[in-house]
This record gives sequence, C-alpha cells and structure tokens, in this order.
Amino acid sequence: MIIPSSYEINEDDLEGKVILVTGANRGFGLAMTMDLSKAGATVIMLGRDLGSLEYAYDAVVDKGFQEPILYPLDLEGATPENYQSLQDDIFNQFEKLDGLIHNAAILGTMMPIDQYDIKSWYSTLQINLNGPFMMTQFLIPLLNKSDDARILFLSAEQGREAKAYWGAYGVSKFGIEGFSKTLSEELEKTNIRVNSLDPGHMSTEMRRTAYPAEDSSKIPSPESKSSAIVYLMLPENSNIHGQQLIIDKPN
Ligand SMILES: NC(=O)c1ccc[n+]([C@@H]2O[C@H](COP(=O)([O-])OP(=O)(O)OC[C@H]3O[C@@H](n4cnc5c(N)ncnc54)[C@H](OP(=O)(O)O)[C@@H]3O)[C@@H](O)[C@H]2O)c1
Repeated sequence: MIIPSSYEINEDDLEGKVILVTGANRGFGLAMTMDLSKAGATVIMLGRDLGSLEYAYDAVVDKGFQEPILYPLDLEGATPENYQSLQDDIFNQFEKLDGLIHNAAILGTMMPIDQYDIKSWYSTLQINLNGPFMMTQFLIPLLNKSDDARILFLSAEQGREAKAYWGAYGVSKFGIEGFSKTLSEELEKTNIRVNSLDPGHMSTEMRRTAYPAEDSSKIPSPESKSSAIVYLMLPENSNIHGQQLIIDKPN
C-alpha cells in the first residue's frame, strides 16, 4: 500500500495524542517528530544521547509546535528493567500511549556474511530488532489504554528483498517485517493497528554512510516524506493494519 508523501498537516490533527518515536534526535526520526508535534501530538523523543535530544527539542519548540518530552535510552544496552521504567514513566505522566514508532536503527557493517564482524552483527540485531521487541512488549499495556493506537516499524527495501552484503541490517529488517506481521495478527481484534513502512531513499547520515560517493542533493530529504507519518496516525486511517507500506515519491 502506498502512503501519500504530501499530506497537508493541520495543527489539531493529533491533538491529545501521545506518540513515542525512537531515534528522534536526527534524520527521519527528527523530521517525523517535527511533523507530529506540528499536528499537536506530544512526542516522547527517545534517543541514546541527551545532548543531541536537547538540541532537537529546541528545534521543535522554536517552531512553536507542541512541546515534546525527552527520554534518553541506549537501545543497545537497554534491559527489561529499563523498559519497565519506560512503561512506568509514561503511565505516570499520560496513563496511555497512542503511538509507538520504531525508527532508530544502525547500518552495521556492509560485508559478506563469511567475513561479517560478529560484534557488529550482535549490536545491529540488538538495536534494530531485539530492542523493538522488548519495548513493544512493555508498551502494549499502555497502547491498549488508547482508543486508537498505532505501532509502526521502520523497515527498508533490504528487509523485503534480499541484497548481498547488507548483512545484519537486511536480516534485522526481514525480522522487523516478520515481527510486524505476527504482531498484527495477534492484535487484530484490539484498538492497536500495526504496520511496517519502507520510507525509501532519504538523505540522512545512514544513507550517506551506505552510499558515500552519491550526490546527496539528488536524494529526497526526510522532511519531504515525514508528513506521511502524520497521515498514518490520523483517526480516519485506522483501517490500515498488517500492511507493508511504502511512501509515494515526493513532488
Ligand atoms: N535513510 C534512508 O535512505 C532509509 C531507507 C530505508 C529505511 N530507512 C530506515 O529509516 C529509519 C531512520 O533512518 P535514518 O536514515 O534517519 O537513520 P540515521 O540518520 O542514521 O538515524 C538513526 C537514528 O537511530 C538512533 N540510534 C542508533 N543507535 C541507537 C541506539 N543504540 N539507541 C537509541 N537510538 C539509536 C540514532 O541516534 P544517534 O544520533 O545517537 O546515533 C539516530 O537518531 C531506520 O529504521 C532506517 O533503517 C532509512
């Protein structure tokens, strides 16, 4: 299913909604945080480094958008106890969660499997797949308290069609696709809608690392695609469930 890239955001579209975005300090995570905040949602900006979260917070507040909440957590080392604290903290402040967007990811190492660095494999699977599993498990009770909740998994083309040398990144995204499908079946009869999304190429640090020789001015910016995330969170789109989504090409 194709999601439009040029949704015109209204400032009360997501008023009263509480949405957690991982990797919200930069790249696509920051672009979607801006748009979700512009639409009136309170975004819980999760990232591993408080300094860069604060910098991103200022960018949102300077625009006059809904004030976000900062939540520093390193997904690589996070334990079930950390996720329990996350659940407790959100419950104490909001009593519910309306959206959970698993955006944070690392590229790992680009090399053949027979030479793949084992430590890098473990880190990549921990951040890209195991972290989202644990976070989802601990936050489902809060999503159940919303009358219209969403879980969105950021995927990639390498998680839908195998590509040589993408190693743990590709495998983690195949895992995310399987996780999203399994969870969507389990939550079919609840108010939680679950989908995966391949956003397509975006000129972020991840893309520049994967394709260092590319002219990044020819690649769409994350800001040109992030209104699609607001569109997906709209109440009228609560019929979208169990899908492998892509974003329409920006104009
Ligand atoms: N860019 C593309 O062309 C493209 C294409 C298809 C899919 N995607 C997907 O889109 C999503 C966003 O990608 P992007 O291009 O915006 O990537 P990016 O610019 O590299 O940003 C990645 C984000 O993840 C965070 N992160 C990494 N490790 C973390 C950890 N251990 N704990 C917490 N946060 C961590 C980073 O925080 P730090 O600043 O602390 O590192 C950063 O905020 C990813 O899931 C990616 O796979 C991107």
